[in-house]
Amino acid sequence: MSSESFFWMGKPIPFRAGESVAAALEAAGILSFGPAPGGGPTRYFCGIGACQCCLVRIDGCVREACLTPACSGARVEELGAADAKV
Ligand code: FES
Repeated sequence: MSSESFFWMGKPIPFRAGESVAAALEAAGILSFGPAPGGGPTRYFCGIGACQCCLVRIDGCVREACLTPACSGARVEELGAADAKV
């Protein structure tokens, strides 16, 4: 088990070197990443940056969780309500 972790909504999530944020969240049993701008939940879907279904806020910036390597200590959160109304 990895000793590195980032924080999802304040909860530590372990990850392996080179793993994406989305893969680590899924491995931790987190399948919904919060509300999507178009409605419904954000989630890990295509894994290649095409669908935009995995948008989350990482250290204050909106990012595709499937394309963003997990980084120790990062703060990862659901998009806010304002983001979901785009
Ligand atoms: S899962 Fe499709 S862009 Fe991330």
